[in-house]
Amino acid sequence: MLSTSADLACQRCINPVCGSTFAVDQTLTACPDCGSLLDIAYEWDRLPVPDSLSFFESRWSNRRNPLDYSGVWRFRDLLPFAPESQIVTIGEGQTILQPSTTVGNYVGLNAGSLFLQYEGLNPSGSFKDNGMTAASTHARMVGAKIAACASTGNTSASLAIYASTTGLFRVVVFVGSGKIAYGKLSQALDYNALTLQVLGDFDDALARVQEVAGDRGIYLCNSVNPFRLEGQKSIMFRVLESLNWEVPDWIVVPGGNLGNSSAFGKAFTELRDLGLIDRIPRLAVINAEGANTLYQLYEERGVRWNGGSPDDAIIDQFFADMDAEQRRANTLASAIEINRPVNLKKCLRALEACDGIVRQVSDQEILDAKAQVGAGGFGCEPASAASVAGARLLRREGVIAPSDRVVCILTGHQLKDPDATVAYHSGDKALFDKKLAANGVKNAPFGNQPVVVENDLQKIIEALEAN
Ligand code: F0G
Repeated sequence: MLSTSADLACQRCINPVCGSTFAVDQTLTACPDCGSLLDIAYEWDRLPVPDSLSFFESRWSNRRNPLDYSGVWRFRDLLPFAPESQIVTIGEGQTILQPSTTVGNYVGLNAGSLFLQYEGLNPSGSFKDNGMTAASTHARMVGAKIAACASTGNTSASLAIYASTTGLFRVVVFVGSGKIAYGKLSQALDYNALTLQVLGDFDDALARVQEVAGDRGIYLCNSVNPFRLEGQKSIMFRVLESLNWEVPDWIVVPGGNLGNSSAFGKAFTELRDLGLIDRIPRLAVINAEGANTLYQLYEERGVRWNGGSPDDAIIDQFFADMDAEQRRANTLASAIEINRPVNLKKCLRALEACDGIVRQVSDQEILDAKAQVGAGGFGCEPASAASVAGARLLRREGVIAPSDRVVCILTGHQLKDPDATVAYHSGDKALFDKKLAANGVKNAPFGNQPVVVENDLQKIIEALEAN
């Protein structure tokens, strides 16, 4: 039986020039010595790591053990920072990888080449639960009484559900006053989180919660929390598991605060270094055009990880110009409406490890792709569909080949943001203009309008025959 050992894990500064390490029972969201992000690092040589990924299949038969049932913790040997007795789980990670011919056609791939990873099937309806189970576990390890996050909606829903179901801590969520989708806001309220609606955007809310957390000893659950990203690695473990442990050619993921892309890069690097996979898939991170910091820095200005020394002058100048010109992120994909992605540097590292690329897609492309995901699968929220729109763009550019095996991560459930869906499909021009046109959406080529029909059997039959 494999075990975990908190003594063989530490928090380590990602800046190789610094590289300071700290015990896992400390509560940190940045390196106290140099301010860089922190990773969780392991002494793998002294930890019992399985010889082969198929080892994890043995846990399928033991689903009465909540740790084996969890789609995060059944891989606990690959994120061994917590004693088993401290692990907090609410059954997250029962997500599926679904091949989709319809969406594959739309993207321009051969039949059987496109896979959709439905992270919206998590307890709070988004991928965040993968991370929050790990952050909650760490919060429990350090005895946190209050946890907080800033959020465009999903992080707050996720944190709130972990608090409401486990009763381990109180929660304060900071949301901006911009475009938080009602489905997400309703979750935080319903799960009884203290909800502070900051008069500003997500970046403002994040800056404030970081100050408050530092000041008041509140446990911070945004993705600057390195334990959260350990949990998010499991999304890639499940993708591999669904593909019978074969590595796909591409992972395509929407980019917001860049936690997922960072976690995916770490997952694959570790698996390769442990000899559990023999190659790393390519990573494509997709920004919304209206929130394209990563695209601007990586593709337009050529900023790279560069052995841990990205060109800070270019990055600082970019943000100084953003402030001077008062440019603020603006996209219907509200989940990724972010100006200053906190995990930028970790994401640059992931892009290097995964021979990655970054693209941007318009809100029109996002909503059209979302309609395809709805028509050909379980549906998703707008931000998630950026992955499918991005894969389509990369196919058109010839970067992705028709025979490549491509996995698009659908980060959040369709019901998170029904407003965008209804505005796209309803055919109500006033609603379309109000909700979508201002963001450059011109039409709804895949709109599926409800058919209004008189309350009369004959008319209903005529409507059925006409459609
Ligand atoms: N997709 C969805 C549905 C999200 O909620 C988010 C982030 C992302 C993609 C971007 O992921 O930050 O790892 O690059 N939502 C955060 C929130 C910011 O507050 O819920 P990332």
